Amino acid sequence: MGSKRAMLGNGLGDVLEDMVGRHRRFVDLFTGSASVAWHVAQRYPIATFAFDLQRYSAVLAAAVVQRNNPVNPVRLWNDWVRRATPKFEAFCAPDATVVNAAFVIKARKWACQFDQTSLVHAYAGHYYSPVQACWIQALRDTVPTKSPNREVCLAALVMAASKCAASPGHTAQPFQPTDTAIKYLEISWHRNFCADVQAALAQLAPIHARVSGKSDVGDANEIASQLQPGDLVFIDPPYSAVQYSRFYHVLEAIAVGATSPVFGVGRYPPLHERPSSKYSQKTTAKLAIQDLLVTLAAREVSAIITFPDHECSNGVDADMIKNYASEIFEARTQIVSSVFSTLGGPALSGQGPRLARLNADEMILCLEPR
Ligand SMILES: C[S@@+](CC[C@H](N)C(=O)[O-])C[C@H]1O[C@@H](n2cnc3c(N)ncnc32)[C@H](O)[C@@H]1O
Repeated sequence: MGSKRAMLGNGLGDVLEDMVGRHRRFVDLFTGSASVAWHVAQRYPIATFAFDLQRYSAVLAAAVVQRNNPVNPVRLWNDWVRRATPKFEAFCAPDATVVNAAFVIKARKWACQFDQTSLVHAYAGHYYSPVQACWIQALRDTVPTKSPNREVCLAALVMAASKCAASPGHTAQPFQPTDTAIKYLEISWHRNFCADVQAALAQLAPIHARVSGKSDVGDANEIASQLQPGDLVFIDPPYSAVQYSRFYHVLEAIAVGATSPVFGVGRYPPLHERPSSKYSQKTTAKLAIQDLLVTLAAREVSAIITFPDHECSNGVDADMIKNYASEIFEARTQIVSSVFSTLGGPALSGQGPRLARLNADEMILCLEPR
């Protein structure tokens, strides 16, 4: 998570500083880790609205953009863990000081006794140790019911779950108990999940919006049709031909609180239940971004678009976006150097080995209505 965080200190922060003050609302249409929504909400006296196809992203954004006061992280944790502890204890999760293949097999068998929709059944013995998975389920079942405590706790749960997941970067596949990978699995399984939740609460508690906004699950192109003159829209669309839901399905299930029965080594829910983006399909991505630009121009809003400065695996490239946008907006471009994830796909169509992260230039395109 956090792909745009570095760029905020490398050009994007200055562009926002220049443009936000002239607008009435800030709208992040592809909020992801919510780093940009958090940045704007904390600094500027306008409401921030954040959307994403994935619920876990909306959860991360909501914890900050929907709240204009700090919360007390110690009181929040003490009340929450008091409610969760009996549920955690009822699971009687097996634990081990040494994680080896035999314990992994035992953990997986133990998890099968639970309902197929439970997070324990889906992930204990795979992405999480039994103890971690039971805390995840117990804490998820007992999140506060009232805002803003509910949003803060949900986001802290997602942040801790992302940190503890026994997988290389994204949650596409968990580490397996092989000779080479067991040490990584052990490191993740030995993380103290509750300590990670408390750390996330401490990080989130003091940060809040200056003006309360809203975050929700939504399709960027549909939300765009409801925008108004005076809105500044941030657009950081997918650039990979691999669906984001392939990499974040575990965080998504934790944000929701349950899952459909999972299958395969990756523990995925059925494909039709995973959010699917037109921006992550080569046949539809170009049209999706063009439609979005046309809608935004018709709504007379301003926009900032970031995109890797080369053709990406979804078939979209920065020049195409710039040329198309220049016909319907006043446009100016800035190029900054950046590091971004290939999300497991090749960086360029037809190009060689898969790289996890790539150094490349990134375009920042500023658009104002004509
Ligand atoms: C490049 S990432 C955004 C990263 C984000 N700016 C950050 O700092 O983490 C693209 C995001 O767009 C979301 N997405 C894909 N298609 C979408 C759509 N049609 N509407 C809204 N969000 C979408 C994905 O779930 C993903 O979180």
